[in-house]
Amino acid sequence: MKKKMAVKLAVLGLCAVVALAFTACGSSSSGNKNSKKTTKTYTVVTEPTFPPYDTTDKDGNLTGFDMDMVKAIAKDQGFKVKFKSMEFQSLIPAIQSGNADIIAAGMNVDKDRSKKVDFSNTYCDAGLVVMVKKDNATIKGEESLTKDMKVASQTGTSGATECKNLQKKGQIKQAVILDGFDTCIMQLQNGDVNAVIIDKPVAQNYMQKHSGKFKTVGKTLDAESYAMAVKKGNTALKKQLNDGLKNIVKNGKFQKICDKWGVGNKFASK
Ligand code: ARG
Repeated sequence: MKKKMAVKLAVLGLCAVVALAFTACGSSSSGNKNSKKTTKTYTVVTEPTFPPYDTTDKDGNLTGFDMDMVKAIAKDQGFKVKFKSMEFQSLIPAIQSGNADIIAAGMNVDKDRSKKVDFSNTYCDAGLVVMVKKDNATIKGEESLTKDMKVASQTGTSGATECKNLQKKGQIKQAVILDGFDTCIMQLQNGDVNAVIIDKPVAQNYMQKHSGKFKTVGKTLDAESYAMAVKKGNTALKKQLNDGLKNIVKNGKFQKICDKWGVGNKFASK
């Protein structure tokens, strides 16, 4: 009798263990289901001396038009983003090596870059301008830059290409190519360079912030529009960026971001 009881208890105990194991399995399998749903986090890279597109707040966090736009697209498309800062000329290599997923850096689409990365649809039109000190009376545009002059721009940018071309042509003394636009502006301020070649909306932003110190001269030089970039062949992510961009333009979020940063909306009906 005692023996039977013991067997029964043992069987019951075994059942309990088996039942527990099943529940555990059950919950872990539903855990798996949940983890399948976990949202992807993409690394977005930028160079932050390019306000209002790419800059830092007073705590050093990356902020700007590009960050807000990418965040809005990410929300729309159901992915997450984290931002990383690097030199402008390191952005494309970072995408190529897989160290980053998305460039959002006020970057123009251009032929050379298009061989290395895939661009999204464009989101902003901007040309280049010549920026000088407010009291400069001699420089009236790119054509009045002369052999004795130094002109600064940021390394790896379309402005830098323009500066180097001017030097190659022998029109200016030196193209001064610097890491950040903040240093270009500083050199202009100090009189180390005579002019800076820079994207028009960024020049306008600097002029507003340092009112009375700088002006732009001459006509705006044509440049391609801005787009985000992804690794060559990553059509899925490119599609998400394009779909998200389309949606935030449609639902007015894009306009809000333009207003916040004082940037023109290229999609606004004219
Ligand atoms: N639009 C210019 C280019 O594509 C300059 C971009 C600079 N951007 C930056 N985040 N510093 O070459």
